[in-house]
Amino acid sequence: MAANSSLALLKRFIGEALSHKRTLAIVVASIVGSALATLAPPYILRIAIDRYILANNYSGFLAVALLYLASLVAQWFFATLQTFYIEVFGQKVLRDLRARLHEKVLLSNLDFFKDKSTGDLVSRIVNDTGIVNDVLVSGLLGSLGSLLSLIGIIIAMLLLDVKLTLVTLTSVPLMVIVAYYFGGKMRRAYRETRQKIARISSVVEESVAGVETIRAFGRESDVEREFSKVSRETIKAYLRVAVYMGLFWPLMNITSLLSVIVVIAYGGYLAYQGAVSVGVVVAFIQYAQRFRGPINEVIGLYDSLQSALAALERIYEVLDDENVEDYSGREVERLKGEIKFEDVWFEYENGVPVLKGVNLHIPPATKVAVVGKTGAGKTTMANLIMRFYDPTSGKLRYDGIDGREISRKSLRKRIGYVPQETYLFPGTIMENILMANPEASEEDVIRVCKQLSVHEFIERLPQGYNTSAGEAGKLLSVGERQLISLARALLKDPDIVILDEALSSVDPKTERLVQDAMLRLMEGRTSIIIAHRLGITRFADKVVVVDDGRIVEEGSPEELLAKKGYFYRLYTSQMGEA
Ligand SMILES: Nc1ncnc2c1ncn2[C@@H]1O[C@H](COP(=O)(O)OP(=O)(O)OP(=O)(O)O)[C@@H](O)[C@H]1O
Ligand SMILES: [Mg+2]
Repeated sequence: MAANSSLALLKRFIGEALSHKRTLAIVVASIVGSALATLAPPYILRIAIDRYILANNYSGFLAVALLYLASLVAQWFFATLQTFYIEVFGQKVLRDLRARLHEKVLLSNLDFFKDKSTGDLVSRIVNDTGIVNDVLVSGLLGSLGSLLSLIGIIIAMLLLDVKLTLVTLTSVPLMVIVAYYFGGKMRRAYRETRQKIARISSVVEESVAGVETIRAFGRESDVEREFSKVSRETIKAYLRVAVYMGLFWPLMNITSLLSVIVVIAYGGYLAYQGAVSVGVVVAFIQYAQRFRGPINEVIGLYDSLQSALAALERIYEVLDDENVEDYSGREVERLKGEIKFEDVWFEYENGVPVLKGVNLHIPPATKVAVVGKTGAGKTTMANLIMRFYDPTSGKLRYDGIDGREISRKSLRKRIGYVPQETYLFPGTIMENILMANPEASEEDVIRVCKQLSVHEFIERLPQGYNTSAGEAGKLLSVGERQLISLARALLKDPDIVILDEALSSVDPKTERLVQDAMLRLMEGRTSIIIAHRLGITRFADKVVVVDDGRIVEEGSPEELLAKKGYFYRLYTSQMGEA
């Protein structure tokens, strides 16, 4: 990443974070308070020693002792305040970022998802924002406090004695080297443990999700081997952290003590000569020990800055993606349901047309069956009617209105879509059907289910409508899921119905149930049924055969059968199989 582009990213991030002004003001106040409070105790100690203890003057000593105590309490108070409000501020920034990313995912059009995997998006929204918060909020603010303390300590020391200060500072480079070298090794080892843990979770996740496939291909021992390999690596990574921690902290303490030795040796010599007081030497000993923490923190920040900037870049890449779903346009209340494809061409990938000049007229309230080989472009036609995508060229008209002029939201409200794969959300079956129409009540759901004859089937589930869909996901067959999807569609009381039939075959009883429910949903509505089981085509007013992105045949089922063309061949081959 170029230096100026990371700087620009950082500037933008800080600019956005600054919107939480009040919390930030408290954070800054507590950082300043904390830095000042760290400086006070050694200074007070020096006064106590020089003016009271060594001067044998105990008259005001209690007051000084109490002041010392007060400064310790203040140090504790500000440190607590600082930790807490940095967290508050960080969580607010984190929440904003995550909310914006999540909203982006919801509002993006399908092109957005083309080159992003689910895992990658989840990781950006959950992990990358976490890293940014740790480093660029907590880390940066903490380091700001540390720098402030360091500067404060150096100023306080300079005020006490310039020569002693310069000699004491000679130990600083050593601390920097230890913090940079050994601390760096420790931090890198720690990052590695996190990667190993993520690897373990993904192995476990894959074993659970793919358990059937693993069993079917007898891969249990391979997966187990993979798991123990990752486990071993994880242990190694943790042990490495332990070794570096064991090396690092004592080393840091020793270098810190070295600076104390320097102060005692040189300061003692100066005190012996009478150039400084004993109190000053004691104060220096205390200041010298206060270098360690801030130096370590600032270097730690520097170390993790690179990875945090990379995380920030991944976050902004999502936020700046321009594939946003456009909801503007004309609102439609009700549609008569006429649909017209006018020389529609469409490509998902540039230069690879999937639909090649489709012309199709669907009059209101007619039932059209779309059939064709796998990959012919049937689902793509449904995607265009739903306006998940717009044609690359050509037009789709709804009641004569160009689809591009109609607001996507209002159009989709009028279409009941039963996709090829039913997605059930976590929650109950009831909630899963209700989501189709926020205005509907539970009674509506039951009425609709009765209408489709799926009520009895749902009642037979362990907890009826309250059966959890996650659990039911495993419990339900493809056909049964499709029944729920059909109920969802009917609850919207749509003007247009699109049914993308699932390919997998279901038992004859469920098939009857699905077919009856489909027919009931289609009644009196413009219906497009993408049929894999061709039996249902006999209920259609018109059959459309799609092949390689083109409509190759069109007509009533009887006509097409009599014609003995594409449809006839598809039909007889399927009926022959059955
Ligand atoms: N999101 C996508 N990005 C790129 N290409 C796609 C995408 N979706 C589908 N395709 C391609 O478009 C072509 C038509 O796919 P489509 O899903 O419309 O076929 P289909 O007729 O519905 O097939 P099936 O009967 O198997 O459901 C296929 O070659 C497919 O590989
Ligand atoms: Mg399909």
